[in-house]
Amino acid sequence: MFSIQRGLPSELAGSASELFLSALSEKFAPVLGNDSKATELFKASIVVSSCFSALEDNRLLGVLAVQTEDQNFLNPSFGDLSIHYGFWGAVVKGVALHLLQHKPKSEELHVEGIAVVDSARGKGVGTKLLEELMRFAQTRNFKKITLEVIDTNHRALQLYERLGFAIQKHSKIWPANKIIGWTFNETIFMEQIIG
Ligand SMILES: CC(C)(COP(=O)(O)OP(=O)(O)OC[C@H]1O[C@@H](n2cnc3c(N)ncnc32)[C@H](O)[C@@H]1OP(=O)(O)O)[C@@H](O)C(=O)NCCC(=O)NCCS
Repeated sequence: MFSIQRGLPSELAGSASELFLSALSEKFAPVLGNDSKATELFKASIVVSSCFSALEDNRLLGVLAVQTEDQNFLNPSFGDLSIHYGFWGAVVKGVALHLLQHKPKSEELHVEGIAVVDSARGKGVGTKLLEELMRFAQTRNFKKITLEVIDTNHRALQLYERLGFAIQKHSKIWPANKIIGWTFNETIFMEQIIG
């Protein structure tokens, strides 16, 4: 049986970083590649308090990364990027990562990302993580939860709709997708008003 907790034990930052890079590879692999540099970059930039995690016997099953007006879960700085990719690499990758980012306003909680390990999918872990976030939003008086999903991720979109998120906007990312090598064409912005 798994449990959901606020935050991530810091010794699991490496696992969280690997999980994000593999589960969200459609977004990240064309920008950062799939090698240890990307894992190190994410690991070093993780803010462990800015997420909810699903654990089973100290094993990480899933992470829901949360972004507020002034805090992210994954936030590689230009300095971090240039250590791994050099100055020009950092410029290009920084611009591409920026295209995937949303800047939440005050009283808005943004789902920066959610990922469940392959072997635990379809067992309710993602649902429980999102329900915990909804409870958190209510108790902390946030007005809405927002997220972005890529147009090719139909199952995630269905999950969000089932939990009460509504589509607000479709944003085409052409020609950036062709230049960067993304296989998706648009991002879909969704929100849930907290009543
Ligand atoms: C999307 C994701 C977080 C859902 O987590 P999960 O633990 O599998 O979700 P749940 O078990 O609560 O299932 C929720 C629904 O998603 C469906 N689902 C989505 N992706 C699935 C997958 N890869 N395998 C099995 N079921 C999946 C389930 O069938 C279920 O639908 P239902 O409740 O109508 O039967 C998880 O599949 C995942 O990590 N996917 C890769 C990363 C990703 O796409 N993240 C979202 C980016 S916006």
